[in-house]
Amino acid sequence: MDNPKQSFGSFIVAVSLLLAGIILLFHWSSSFSNQLVLNQKEPLCKQSNFTTTNVEADGDILDSALAKASMGNKTVMIAIVNKAYVEEGVESESSMLDIFLSSFWVGEGTRSLIHHILLVAVDQIAYDRCIFLNLNCFRLQTDGVDFEGEKLYMSQDFIKMMWRRTQFLLQVLKRGYNFVFTDTDVMWLRNPLTRLSKNETEDLQISTDMYFGDPWSKKNQINTGFYFVRSNKKTISLFETWYGEKDNSTGKKEQDVLLDLIRGGIIEQLGLRVRFLDTLYFSGFCQDSKDFRAVTTVHANCCRSIHAKVLDLKVVLSDWKRFRMLYANSTTNPQWTKHEGCMKSWQT
Ligand SMILES: *[C@@H]1O[C@H](CO)[C@@H](O)[C@H](O)[C@H]1NC(C)=O
Ligand SMILES: *[C@@H]1O[C@H](CO)[C@@H](O)[C@H](O)[C@H]1NC(C)=O
Ligand SMILES: *[C@@H]1O[C@H](CO)[C@@H](O)[C@H](O)[C@H]1NC(C)=O
Ligand SMILES: *[C@@H]1O[C@H](CO)[C@@H](O)[C@H](O)[C@H]1NC(C)=O
Ligand SMILES: *[C@@H]1O[C@H](CO)[C@@H](O)[C@H](O)[C@H]1NC(C)=O
Repeated sequence: MDNPKQSFGSFIVAVSLLLAGIILLFHWSSSFSNQLVLNQKEPLCKQSNFTTTNVEADGDILDSALAKASMGNKTVMIAIVNKAYVEEGVESESSMLDIFLSSFWVGEGTRSLIHHILLVAVDQIAYDRCIFLNLNCFRLQTDGVDFEGEKLYMSQDFIKMMWRRTQFLLQVLKRGYNFVFTDTDVMWLRNPLTRLSKNETEDLQISTDMYFGDPWSKKNQINTGFYFVRSNKKTISLFETWYGEKDNSTGKKEQDVLLDLIRGGIIEQLGLRVRFLDTLYFSGFCQDSKDFRAVTTVHANCCRSIHAKVLDLKVVLSDWKRFRMLYANSTTNPQWTKHEGCMKSWQT
């Protein structure tokens, strides 16, 4: 038998060698996998360098962006922004995006929803602003189109931007995500998920400019500024059909095309269940909610310019704060201040 001290010594040596081996192996494999990750990332970075219109090409980036913003049940909230919506004007000190985000802060039970918003930027400045704000951001590319400036209602670029968003949202549905689409001129005063129907047979729940009392009536005037859509074969077909009309609808914006599709019987054709949302909860400037206790979102619809919207939405937030401070526990139901900026915006 060996001297026990000696054999203990060689045991230590053996263990150290083994440990060193493990560390080396670990090191090697981790740098190897780092390399793999880098190698995988490189082509994606190139693709994302604004040279492609193909949404599929940005697929992996979109997938991870969606996964990050998702609520676990594959539901996200999507808003699309361009430069004009993220930059303050010279006179007004806040941008549309600022006001949109403020609404989540002053809203009731809306703060945590910010983590589930995917902000889709159609130009670099909007993207930079989104990153600066530390939100969930995705950069949507389009060849040869400048989406930076303010798009006046129904201008050529306004229409192009609208179609681009329909195409993008189709991709989201195809990836299996349900989503709430919201314009940034929609104030989230309460959590809309608690107001939307949870019935899974309802494929689309869409806000209205004017609501006439029957949630299933096609007479309600839809507004594509806010809606919830479940991802399934029927809704994918709907968005495909909708987007397919792009080149056959000169001068019409995508909302009107959807309206025409609905009037033309697409709901019945695809067997869709579409709920039209009551302005009592999903309010807007076209038809104000009558009840501060019920109101969930407020959309600056029936308004022509960003400047006017920002002006009047600020007033909406003050009305809301005043309600929360003064009337929340009383039976008094205050009135919304008139949307004067927006009324004037049509006069030029
Ligand atoms: C990416 O775009 C930037 C700005 O347009 C340009 O300077 C840069 O060279 C591009 N990089 C690649 C890899 O194409
Ligand atoms: C997803 O989960 C959220 C949070 O639990 C819930 O409010 C929402 O209604 C769910 N959405 C769907 C489509 O089931
Ligand atoms: C969903 O709506 C359908 C059609 O109205 C109805 O038959 C079904 O019972 C509803 N499901 C739930 C869970 O309420
Ligand atoms: C284009 O629109 C016209 C009139 O609305 C319609 O008859 C025609 O079928 C459409 N074509 C396509 C390819 O959708
Ligand atoms: C309203 O009542 C609730 C519950 O009693 C209370 O917590 C809250 O502070 C009250 N709000 C105002 C504005 O008085």
